[in-house]
Amino acid sequence: MHLKNFQSPVEFSLTNYYLKGEPVINQTRKTKDLTGIFQDQKAYESLYPEQLIYSVQAWMPVPEGTPGGLFFGVSTIMPGKVGNEYFMTKGHFHSKSDRAEFYWGLKGKGMLILMDLNRNTWAEEVCPGSLHYIGAHIAHRLANTGDENLVVGACWPSDAGHDYDEIAANGFSARLVEVDGKPRLT
Ligand code: F6R
Ligand code: ZN
Repeated sequence: MHLKNFQSPVEFSLTNYYLKGEPVINQTRKTKDLTGIFQDQKAYESLYPEQLIYSVQAWMPVPEGTPGGLFFGVSTIMPGKVGNEYFMTKGHFHSKSDRAEFYWGLKGKGMLILMDLNRNTWAEEVCPGSLHYIGAHIAHRLANTGDENLVVGACWPSDAGHDYDEIAANGFSARLVEVDGKPRLT
């Protein structure tokens, strides 16, 4: 019998929402990486190209594409707007489109925007403690509607993959914009 204690190689801080350890990947999305995502082209062009819009950290304990594994991620979306549209992630379907995902709110305030294959779009409010099940064949995107960072945890299958092309080509069927100081899907 083996009774040794081992430490997990990756730690998640409950105070600063940071993944620490190896292997962790760090990805940033700046204004210049989000061409065509926002509606107001003039407002988009007025932003500094190097401005950070969101970052993602992920622990991928098995190679991408492995069946049966799981990935753990943390997305941080900065507060701000492009015109009247909130800062948001690119959004995607999973490449294996029947793969589901959990999101949960950790900090800040936002919306999870969801769209099915018939292009019906709806949104769920994200706040610390909110839990979101993103079912099969549902495109998903996060928007920060508050004035501090929005931090959201995620767990998805290691063979899900990301299909950005459909959203890049056709977008979601609705956009989350600020109307009279409040978020509205239009
Ligand atoms: C993984 C997942 C999240 C997003 C992240 C960034 O399947 O849904 O980790 O990847 O919120 O959004 P995208 O990938 O749309 O740029
Ligand atoms: Zn996903």
